[in-house]
Amino acid sequence: MTSQTLREARKYEETSAKMIAKEERPDFHLSVRTGWLNDPNGFSYYGGKYHMFYQYNPYNAQWGPMHWGHAVSDDLLHWEYLPAALAPDEAYDRDGCFSGSAVTMDDGSQLLMYTGVLRERQRDGDFREVQTQCLAIGDGTDYEKYEKNPVLDEKDLPEGCSRNDFRDPKMWRKSDGTYCCAIGSRPADGSGQILLYTSEDGFTWKYKKVLAANNNRFGKMWECPDFFRLDGKGVLLVSPQDMLPSGFEYHNGNGTLCLIGAYDEETDTFTEQYDQSIDYGIDFYAPQTVLTPDGRRVMIGWMQNWDTCSIRSQDVRWFGQMSLPRELSVRNGRLYQNPIRELEQMRCNKVVYQNISVAGSVSLEGIKGRRIDMELIISPEEGQDLYHKFAVRFAQDDQFRTSVSFRPKDSVLKIDRKFSGSRRAIIHQRRSLINGGDGRLKLRIILDRFSAEVFVNDGEQVVTATIYTDQTADGISFFADGAARIDVVKYDLEAGV
Ligand code: FRU
Repeated sequence: MTSQTLREARKYEETSAKMIAKEERPDFHLSVRTGWLNDPNGFSYYGGKYHMFYQYNPYNAQWGPMHWGHAVSDDLLHWEYLPAALAPDEAYDRDGCFSGSAVTMDDGSQLLMYTGVLRERQRDGDFREVQTQCLAIGDGTDYEKYEKNPVLDEKDLPEGCSRNDFRDPKMWRKSDGTYCCAIGSRPADGSGQILLYTSEDGFTWKYKKVLAANNNRFGKMWECPDFFRLDGKGVLLVSPQDMLPSGFEYHNGNGTLCLIGAYDEETDTFTEQYDQSIDYGIDFYAPQTVLTPDGRRVMIGWMQNWDTCSIRSQDVRWFGQMSLPRELSVRNGRLYQNPIRELEQMRCNKVVYQNISVAGSVSLEGIKGRRIDMELIISPEEGQDLYHKFAVRFAQDDQFRTSVSFRPKDSVLKIDRKFSGSRRAIIHQRRSLINGGDGRLKLRIILDRFSAEVFVNDGEQVVTATIYTDQTADGISFFADGAARIDVVKYDLEAGV
């Protein structure tokens, strides 16, 4: 039975979404149907399609009572909205259906697990959220909440763990058909950890062990875990809150963390070996992955950062978009990310330049646009001193530009969106350490109206930022302090229908 709350949300979103013109949205990145979107939820392949659910407040372009929005796709680039899947309509989730995940059950139905939130009045008059894990079962469009919800609550927490920070269940199934689930938790040390729960049937869940503990190394609470095997390793993705900076690897505030290690499936033991940021730009958080039918591990993140949500005025009909789907691999203890290969089918209007010398500022005929896929190979000019700085500027006109610049002497790459039309005192720049000290560097830049994703050195690092610069600012130029050479291949990207 669809509740009144869900029916109202479904009705509202349908009318409200009609008021958003296609051109006001990104073209091939999933954006919220109407109102507000944060984390990707329930990212899955089900019934012959990819499903993406998301944290959703349809009524307002600000965070609010969390619903689950829903969209489906054949290629992860063309999305079709479905009616909202969950609304905060039960006694145990009336203050929000927070993040969660999806798996397919043996009988062909889809099982969702999400965090139910209840705000509880404290003795001092303050409110604190109590978080529990809840289930809903459905057919890909409509979902029925399980009558025995919640299935995990404070009784299922190890001693000392907070009932206020117990969220974001990510389920998967093992080859023997049993169910596993990784959930974010806050132990007594006040930082974060990921707990592992298991189930035989998907309905009855048991605490198994701590899969990974923060011990106050990477921020505090760990949100939105995802855990999978890839290229012979175990990979744990989490989004830590309250990070302290560490060199060029981690930054203040909400961040992303990838732990790579050995995983023993028999005992569910994960032994950490390597750590890194997932994205080195400004706007990327809470990613989730899916295994495609042909065996690729694909990740999508919320293309935003909690601390920079004010970049867009609240007086808009939509706020919140997802990142590009990124194909993952692990090489030499590092996570590599590349745009999903289906993107290549959207390429058109190829423009190629080879061996162009850049000293000062250079513009090239045919190189412009705000929905593009551009590959750049940068190298030092032979027989000359190593250049000091190379920059590519885009979303550019007389007043505005966003730039990606590189100083080989320091091996530092910087994204700078200071001149992107933002009127807020938020972070506009970010630096990261990359490989390219000899002045050789490969960049692949994908723009989609309101964002830039820069894949560095064949996916060794990615730098992501949103930009709300007016679309008429579509210029691109190259700059070198010193002398550099570049090869450029640029395509326009068009989603078409
Ligand atoms: C992360 C997060 C999750 C939570 C959701 C609420 O961005 O804080 O931990 O489930 O957002 O919308």
